[in-house]
Amino acid sequence: MGDSNSSKNLVGIFDSGVGGLSVLREIRALLPSQPLLYFGDQAHVPYGKRQLSEIQDFSFSITRYLLEAGARLIVVACNTASAAALKALRLKFPDVPFVGMEPAVKPASRQTHNGVVGVLATPATFQGELYNTLVEKFARDVKILTSTLPGLVEEIENGRLDSPKTRSILEEAILPMMAQGADTFVLGCTHFPFVLPLIREIAGPQVNVIDPAPAIARRTQALLQERGWENPRAESAPLAFATSGDREKFAQITRNLLGIRSDPLKLSWDGMFLNAN
Ligand code: DGL
Repeated sequence: MGDSNSSKNLVGIFDSGVGGLSVLREIRALLPSQPLLYFGDQAHVPYGKRQLSEIQDFSFSITRYLLEAGARLIVVACNTASAAALKALRLKFPDVPFVGMEPAVKPASRQTHNGVVGVLATPATFQGELYNTLVEKFARDVKILTSTLPGLVEEIENGRLDSPKTRSILEEAILPMMAQGADTFVLGCTHFPFVLPLIREIAGPQVNVIDPAPAIARRTQALLQERGWENPRAESAPLAFATSGDREKFAQITRNLLGIRSDPLKLSWDGMFLNAN
């Protein structure tokens, strides 16, 4: 596993499932010497249909687990968990730097030519205070259309990135929005970048699609730098994975999505505690 400093300044990353791997991919590209520990809460995926309070409880427990495993900075690589818990996480763990996700309403409002933006996110993300604040602050002069793409997270969790069902879910959401003039789409769920090729095929080249993952990676780097925690470029640092779901399934989809072997650790929920078994 590299040199003795190989697990220095560990970054913990979590999502309801494999969606946050779209964020991990960008962080890895920008910070190859930073060890990363990724947790997918596949026992509870999808988060998007759950109560915000329940998602907040999961997020507290997952954060506790990642900190105990040595993480110094936490990336909430899930728009839904960020909507439900980011503010509360910062209050509960005041010494820990968090990077959270929010739908990219601000850049989209600046980039749209027609003044119509389509936001794709989960129901819980749209319910959160964070989303409504963003719209109020940055999208007053823009028409916002929304879709929750029911069933899409489940398709992606099962590795069906180009199935007829995946295609029809996307077409039913995107085509009516385009008919209403949407020229800019916001990927407000970290699962969705994995179907970006299909989105581009359906929407055509003239439509602008915003994936916030590269900006999240830059924010992670900035917070590490501020604290002197960015590891110097050397050999690549270890990547570790854990899931509360099925290890084999997680390993297979990680191979499909990222082209890497993950050999994940299995964690189990015991009430509100996460245990390695
Ligand atoms: N990947 C997630 C997000 O960014 C959550 C999807 C889900 O579990 O519903 O919102």
